[in-house]
Amino acid sequence: MDDTKDMLYFITGNNFKFNEIQQLFEQETIKYNLIQKDLKTIEIQADTIKSVAEFKLNSVKDKLIGSSFIEDSGFFVDNPLNGFPGVYSSYVMKTIGNKGILNLIDNYEDSKAHFSTVIALYFKPLNKLLFFEGTVEGKISSLQKGNQGFGFDPIFIPDEIPQKTFAELTTSQKNSISHRGKAWMKLMDFLKEN
Ligand code: IMP
Repeated sequence: MDDTKDMLYFITGNNFKFNEIQQLFEQETIKYNLIQKDLKTIEIQADTIKSVAEFKLNSVKDKLIGSSFIEDSGFFVDNPLNGFPGVYSSYVMKTIGNKGILNLIDNYEDSKAHFSTVIALYFKPLNKLLFFEGTVEGKISSLQKGNQGFGFDPIFIPDEIPQKTFAELTTSQKNSISHRGKAWMKLMDFLKEN
């Protein structure tokens, strides 16, 4: 750790998410030390992932000396499930999982899905909450494929790489097109200037 740099806390218990973001962080020259903090946050049930992220960050930001951010993502099957599981993604992953989602779909070729991420940043120098968003579009694979990544990765085929699921990509390939990668790039641009 560089003692001359301020701390920037990523509040998450999900090591996969932290590793994805740390890999992106290491590619840039940023005047912050990125630290993982697994703090208990308050998760509300809301209509948008942005509201969930905002509430979560507000529930912990004052416990840390320095700027901090949290990241909230959702998986949306637009066709044929009208956006389900969306804000219920964690619960659906824990209950019916990828197999359960595949069982709800008949026509995989015509399916449409996307991931969205919201990063909520509490930026201490300005005493402000800021939001950075990213989305990736794709479709559902008829079979679970690949063993990289986590969550819904084995059933999501991104439009940019139509032969592979997210779970068949390396972390850097996934980061270059993913919801989290895009939101993160926006946060990086902000941090480089502030
Ligand atoms: P969270 O609330 O942001 O942690 O994510 C909601 C659900 O979406 C969890 O079940 C995660 O496993 C899943 N999820 C979040 N990001 C990704 C991703 O990049 N790939 C696959 N699944 C994800």
